[in-house]
Amino acid sequence: MTVTSRTEDLLALRHSEIPRGVSLAHPVIAARAKDVKIWDVEGREYHDWVGGIGVLNVGHNHPAVVAAMQAQLANISHTRFQVTAYEGYLRLAQRLNARFPGGAHAKTLFLTTGEEATENAIKIARAHTSRPAVISFTHSFHGRTLMGMTLTGKKADYAQNFGPFASEVYRLPFPNPYRPRPGWRRTRGSTGAAGTSTTPWWRRSTAPRWPAS
Ligand SMILES: Cc1ncc(COP(=O)(O)O)c(C=O)c1O
Repeated sequence: MTVTSRTEDLLALRHSEIPRGVSLAHPVIAARAKDVKIWDVEGREYHDWVGGIGVLNVGHNHPAVVAAMQAQLANISHTRFQVTAYEGYLRLAQRLNARFPGGAHAKTLFLTTGEEATENAIKIARAHTSRPAVISFTHSFHGRTLMGMTLTGKKADYAQNFGPFASEVYRLPFPNPYRPRPGWRRTRGSTGAAGTSTTPWWRRSTAPRWPAS
């Protein structure tokens, strides 16, 4: 009999049961978590600097979040808001709208994922402007759906062999004054760190320029 650690057993299960397209950044299998800490199935303790990639602003299992989720599940699991509305959705939208800094009365819709939000932002912009084209930048990540993947600049990681892609998406090199593209003019103050100007670096006459050709 081969003796393996619990992590190795579960990693073997991950390889046999989950498609390889779902990447795995670390060979760590979490058993439980609290606040900023995660414990793996071996009992090892980690500080979680990832937070579900920036979406756990109050850490793991915050008591207020757990209580709110338990109360919601005990009350209504799911209705699909478009079919049957409920007050929690309306009140949360109201609270977010009140914080909108633009002055105008904002409205909110709730979506499940980041790429769904991105896709809907494009739908809303297209419907409002009647202009279909969208610009995205190199080295960007916008999601794994058809539009998300089309927008994503990291093609080798997220879009290889998955075409054809959505139309009317145009890509620009991301202006990175810290690591400028060959041919860019790198000038003093172009990082925005130096000087007292309040003009953003991308509007200054010293900002990096595209090559002439
Ligand atoms: C800038 C950006 N857009 C879209 C997404 C996709 O979000 P989700 O994975 O929730 O669909 C991410 C996720 O990391 C993101 O960082």
